[in-house]
Amino acid sequence: MNAVATDDRFTALRTQATEAMRRAYAPYSKFRVGAALLTDAGETFVGCNVENASYPAGLCAERVALGAAVAAGHRKFMAIAISSEAAAPAPPCGICRQALAEFGLDLIVESAAPAGPVMRWSLAELLPHPFTPSSLHS
Ligand code: THU
Repeated sequence: MNAVATDDRFTALRTQATEAMRRAYAPYSKFRVGAALLTDAGETFVGCNVENASYPAGLCAERVALGAAVAAGHRKFMAIAISSEAAAPAPPCGICRQALAEFGLDLIVESAAPAGPVMRWSLAELLPHPFTPSSLHS
């Protein structure tokens, strides 16, 4: 049975994203981000941003979580929670939207700010007219 992204589950996901955020390596931007990605099997994989002295080599939290999940054998995802210290919930960057879209546009994307505001979208909303695997063959 697939895991259902209930509100309770979101609370747990949000906590995991915030814990991952505290492990971020962001000495350059000082903008720490954490992400927690929920698979259809109910497992969670976390990521944080990992910056680099060669700035473009830095990694976003969402793609670190995605890589960890895929490396563990998962390809179906229900939801991703993002946590940052911005005043307003930070939406995922365009590259992360594209990376996540590879695995489905029904993904629920939630982002939380420390003071409490939470925003929730579907990936389809965040990335209209996506370039997907089928675009290669149309
Ligand atoms: N960052 C993320 O980790 N995820 C996003 O979706 C937006 C940006 C990171 C990249 C960089 O380390 C820092 O935030 C500032 O852009």
